[in-house]
Amino acid sequence: MRISVLTVSDRCARGETEDKSGPAISEILQSFGETVCYRVVPDDRERIAAALTAMCDDIHSDLVLTTGGTGLAPRDVTPEATKAVIEKEAPGIPEAIRAESMKITPRAMLSRATAGVRGKTLIINLPGSPKAVKESLAVVLPVLEHAMETLSGKTLSCGSEGKKA
Ligand code: MTE
Repeated sequence: MRISVLTVSDRCARGETEDKSGPAISEILQSFGETVCYRVVPDDRERIAAALTAMCDDIHSDLVLTTGGTGLAPRDVTPEATKAVIEKEAPGIPEAIRAESMKITPRAMLSRATAGVRGKTLIINLPGSPKAVKESLAVVLPVLEHAMETLSGKTLSCGSEGKKA
């Protein structure tokens, strides 16, 4: 699996803070695939959308994970930038992440993270803290392989009980 990681943070982009969340994503997903692209951009809708588009169309990532910019702060625009580039929404993914995360912290409801598909790439927004990244990925990991197979067309659908095409 080709994985791209996009950290969205003004402070990390300016070099004021070390990005711990992006590297944490790559480490957690090590056994699932290789991180072929890792970038840090500020909380800027155009910059985020451009990076996402490149990760999908030019780098041909199977999975793009963003971290940060999903909350209510004035400059949080990661979900809007993601919605601008995806062709189909996958609302169940952020719904599941928020539902499980709510068992850990009520602040989980403050994340507006989204997920969706552009071409053959699945994009998932994660919140910004390394703790939130780990907790959110723990929700997604059990379905990741099936999601990737479905997206690539190798598996017909869940209704076909996972038979290979
Ligand atoms: N989800 C999990 N699993 N664990 C967390 O600690 N933090 C929340 C939420 N989601 C959190 C979480 C907090 S405090 C905020 S403000 C929102 O994610 C948005 O975070 P972001 O703006 O860094 O993306």
